[in-house]
Amino acid sequence: MNQPKNHILVIFGASGDLTYRKLVPAVFDLYNQNLLPDKFAILGLGRTDLSDVDFRAKMKAGIQQFALNKPDDENKLNNYLEKLHYFSFDTKDPDEYCLLKGKLRELDEACGTDNNFIYYMATPPNMYEIIPEQLAKQALSDESAGFKRLIVEKPFGYDLETAQKLNKELLKYFNEEQIYRIDHYLGKETVQNLLVTRFSNGIFEPLWNRNYIHHVEITGAENIGVGNRGGYYEGSGALRDMIQNHLLLLVGLVAMEPPTLIDSTNIRNEIAKVFHSLRPIKEEEVAKYAIRGQYTASHIKGEAVKGYREEQGVAADSRTETFAAIKLFIDNWRWAGVPFYIRSGKMLPTRVTEIVIHFKSTPHHLFANDASICNNYNQLVIRIQPDEGVLLKFGMKVPGAGFKVQNVNMDFHYSDLSDTYLPSAYERLLLDCMLGDSTLYHRGDAVEAAWKFVDPILKAWKNDKNIPVHGYPAGTWGPEVSDELIEENDITWRYPCKNLANDGNYCEL
Ligand code: BG6
Repeated sequence: MNQPKNHILVIFGASGDLTYRKLVPAVFDLYNQNLLPDKFAILGLGRTDLSDVDFRAKMKAGIQQFALNKPDDENKLNNYLEKLHYFSFDTKDPDEYCLLKGKLRELDEACGTDNNFIYYMATPPNMYEIIPEQLAKQALSDESAGFKRLIVEKPFGYDLETAQKLNKELLKYFNEEQIYRIDHYLGKETVQNLLVTRFSNGIFEPLWNRNYIHHVEITGAENIGVGNRGGYYEGSGALRDMIQNHLLLLVGLVAMEPPTLIDSTNIRNEIAKVFHSLRPIKEEEVAKYAIRGQYTASHIKGEAVKGYREEQGVAADSRTETFAAIKLFIDNWRWAGVPFYIRSGKMLPTRVTEIVIHFKSTPHHLFANDASICNNYNQLVIRIQPDEGVLLKFGMKVPGAGFKVQNVNMDFHYSDLSDTYLPSAYERLLLDCMLGDSTLYHRGDAVEAAWKFVDPILKAWKNDKNIPVHGYPAGTWGPEVSDELIEENDITWRYPCKNLANDGNYCEL
């Protein structure tokens, strides 16, 4: 494994939750596996007035709670904490950037980090246009002596127009190669495994096209509500929050052509090609291809739960969708005519992200004595989380007289690989950025193409008051009408359970 070059990780928004829960614990996990360079420091920036000592004490608590490798060696933990520094700084104030430059120079000299800096924008998105510009004004984006990389957290824009504007702004001050747009889904082992499942097995790829696949289903379900994020979520909704980025990324990985090489350019080219091939849904067609819903108050396991409109920070007459389902097509050679059904929602019965490839049935139903089996096509379920794994469903003969067919499961669970350590998404992605590998980060053109696809849906939902926001009781699988997206009578969504191999109404959620 290559070791990253010496550098400083500069975190804007270091007093926030992301730094505490995800970033500093993930870097600690890297440290624990000796994956950090010899000379390394973290510089946290935030408006809160903290000393290095305060910052370290706060981060120590975050590491103890959230690192995957729980720190059992106090010395090791303290050595790591020594690498953490804090600088109180007003991100909005252009005059303070020359102070930041001075601080970075001083730290760089003291730590021997060779003028290599990674800037992580863990701030609200309204800072994205200020930080790059001010860094550039101080020549802090200049790579003539040392690399300068910029990590941008989602949301990358609010719609197509703002995404284009953001990309344009970023590109004024940093090159595309310096920009790392992070999507934690790409950091998930099981998402990366999609590439391996598809392209390292001779058995799947020949079937992976319109000749053998009937339809594809992708679910990103959560069993929690918006919690204390109501204020943010009101301006976002399921389409922006989950579908534009995470679920379309899964569509990209399922549908892409084999890349020539596993590298940043080739993989990202193929994903972008899928996004460019998404059949546009016109504003006037939105009601036919997209369903939106919002959870209402209900009882789950005997306990009363709030509806979305009662959540903190949410308007009493809110029309923000907490559930969205879309039927889409990819207009290219491989996928012509194959519908992709994607759905995501909050307050659904269970937390599960999975892809189901539904294969076409046999051309002639020889064992037609049991209609339900004939109609139950072969399915390949790729489970992203939880109970990560892969499941193949197929028909087998029931022992005994005649030819009765039963659907059976063949399943692989990651948990069976007892010695394999599954790194967290942030751990993997931060390491890649440190190594200068942007394969698992979004490229600007692909982000824009994804916005281009969702934009007419957003517009129609905003402007056309006749498109209903369907209520669904918290704890159910979203509005009943989402079943109507899948028109054919004998096909429904899969209703997955906590365990990969189970589905349907009667299982543990
Ligand atoms: C985030 C969304 O990007 O992804 C959240 O903003 C959502 O609303 C989260 O809960 C889901 O991530 P995961 O990894 O739990 O599927």
